[in-house]
Amino acid sequence: MSRSAHPAGPRHADVLPEGHYSAPPSDLNVLDPKVWAQTVGRDGDGVVTVGGIDVKSLAEEYGTPAYILDETDFRARARAWRSAFGGDADVFYAGKAFLSRAVVRWLHEEGLNLDVCSGGELATALSAGMPAERIAFHGNNKSSEEIHRAVSAGVGRIVLDSFQEIVRVAHIAQSLGRRQRVQIRITVGVEAHTHEFIATAHEDQKFGIPLAGGVAAEAVRRALKLDGIELIGIHSHIGSQIFDMSGFEVAAHRVVGLLKEVRDEHGVELPEIDLGGGLGIAYTSDDDPREPHEIAKALTEIVTRECEAAKLRTPRISVEPGRAIVGPTAFTLYEVGTIKPLDGLRTYVSVDGGMSDNIRTALYDAEYSVALVSRTSDAEPMLARVVGKHCESGDIVVKDAFLPSDLAPGDLIAVPATGAYCRSMASNYNHVLRPPVVAVADGESRVIVRRETEDDLLRLDVG
Ligand code: LLP
Repeated sequence: MSRSAHPAGPRHADVLPEGHYSAPPSDLNVLDPKVWAQTVGRDGDGVVTVGGIDVKSLAEEYGTPAYILDETDFRARARAWRSAFGGDADVFYAGKAFLSRAVVRWLHEEGLNLDVCSGGELATALSAGMPAERIAFHGNNKSSEEIHRAVSAGVGRIVLDSFQEIVRVAHIAQSLGRRQRVQIRITVGVEAHTHEFIATAHEDQKFGIPLAGGVAAEAVRRALKLDGIELIGIHSHIGSQIFDMSGFEVAAHRVVGLLKEVRDEHGVELPEIDLGGGLGIAYTSDDDPREPHEIAKALTEIVTRECEAAKLRTPRISVEPGRAIVGPTAFTLYEVGTIKPLDGLRTYVSVDGGMSDNIRTALYDAEYSVALVSRTSDAEPMLARVVGKHCESGDIVVKDAFLPSDLAPGDLIAVPATGAYCRSMASNYNHVLRPPVVAVADGESRVIVRRETEDDLLRLDVG
């Protein structure tokens, strides 16, 4: 991302510190549709609305902070992924990005499958009626109890992540009189251009079985010998928040290479390949994500071409987008508290949440946008840092952004694109209560995950 360090016009313009910010936009009241959910706009009074409801009413009814999720947008994105890949492929929504029972129902209704990676996610999926055969179960350290539960429930596939797990799943399935459909997750050795902690296809990390040195081929050899499992394909997930398709191209090439080796050695053509998730979204106006139909076209072409070259039947493709579906659909609504201008530096704007509802800035140096949403303002832009209420100086929500200089305590501001990995990674640090998730659509709003209460905290603390 290229950003200029010296914007013109804002307060302290002559002494702006180095930072990751562009010049302030010409009009701070404009909401870039790239980073805001589909139905977001401003009403005649300048108040931001979503799904036909204004944020002041939402704040009044549900309090702040709150994640406000645009259900119409969620469903539209889910549908766009589904139809982009068509009937010859499967789209598994990655539940780790954000999962709740309402979300499971929406996915079910829109024809998507679901990827879960823990017993808790599996329980949520099953309790909301997702058919087990449409669930894929992931994880690098599934417990025997989780495997037992997944096999008993009849999940469509378990993605095997280690040699030990190949044997464990086969054994558990056999003891239950089942033959469990499985994929093997491999690491293809691609360095995805993303933060180290969210890149997953290089070899020096905990996920998958390395393709290099024939290790994955040996895993296939062992899996094919076991009665309790049916090997249906190979899985690769190269990382997250990726914009460049070339990593997927290399991954597809290498996965197909393994399918060819398997065919040559065992006379078996594995029928499926899963290319994982990881497609990037716009957190700021500088990000340019790809549309689902472009991604589907690119991935399908790569796999088809590689298979033709290897004289293999094209396997059924599946993908696992999480962030790309839910990320852009929600924003976090905060109330402004303390405002501290630090002369020659920036203005610290404190909100009533922080790293407990969005750890991504602290953890990955993630960039976000922010806007004043309870009114418009024509005041000069000021360079701001949006911080939380936690006892930690790294408690930053938006590192560098411009807000109007007449911002005052009590104003509502919102951080867009917080639908993925914010509520799902939220914590109770400092015993701060996790915000609710409020779904809005067509002039109606409802809580789909309620706000935590002090009673919830005390219930776990058995004294
Ligand atoms: N499939 C597998 C096997 C995965 O491990 C992941 C993400 C996904 C699909 C979905 O990836 P997505 O499309 O959402 O990027 N907490 C980090 C992201 C960790 C992702 C872990 N695995 C973040 O906040 O950026």
